[in-house]
Amino acid sequence: MLLVLRVLHIVLGTFWAGTIIFMAAFLAPSARAVGPAAGPMMGQLMQGRKLTPWLIASGCVTVLAGAMLLWHASGGFQPEWMGSPMGIGYSTGGLLAILGLLLGVTQNAPTAQKIAALTARRTAAATPPTPEEVAELQRLNAKMGLLGKLGAGLLAGATFLMAIARYLG
Ligand code: HEM
Repeated sequence: MLLVLRVLHIVLGTFWAGTIIFMAAFLAPSARAVGPAAGPMMGQLMQGRKLTPWLIASGCVTVLAGAMLLWHASGGFQPEWMGSPMGIGYSTGGLLAILGLLLGVTQNAPTAQKIAALTARRTAAATPPTPEEVAELQRLNAKMGLLGKLGAGLLAGATFLMAIARYLG
């Protein structure tokens, strides 16, 4: 059982954090540089491949399995273990990942949904976007850029702490 939890935790955590960091550091800047021509590819990624539900599901399983591993490693959240450098490392890392998940569910996912819906409406109508739509897209893209960096920072911090916690003593 512990082995299954560990495998789920590490494999899905790697996919989740890696994808969020890749999107913030490479995909989003490239899409911005290409401009409107990147719209159909991003639409296919979000609507066709359903990236957002995949990310949310893998984030939820990572956090749930992590909480169960933490419960087991700490002997039921024993204060002595939780207050040790290793306990602080795992729980701070876990907290950063939970904040990343909450940010993703409450902010990133709805914003990405709005961008995808607006782009899809425009593509279906086959007419150029109105000035209001251009302004709205620019506002949503700027917000998404900031949220993406914040999420990537939180998950990079969580992964870093997961990597070192065992060696903190
Ligand atoms: C970005 C999300 C996360 C990633 C990428 C991640 C990654 C990892 C990795 C690679 C390990 C193995 C470390 C080692 O063996 O030295 C690990 C272990 C662990 N993680 Fe996470 N983790 C994440 C989120 C969480 C969360 C949210 C929690 C708790 C709520 C958590 C709790 C733990 C615990 C307790 C262990 C030690 C398990 C053991 O030794 O059996 N992790 N994590």
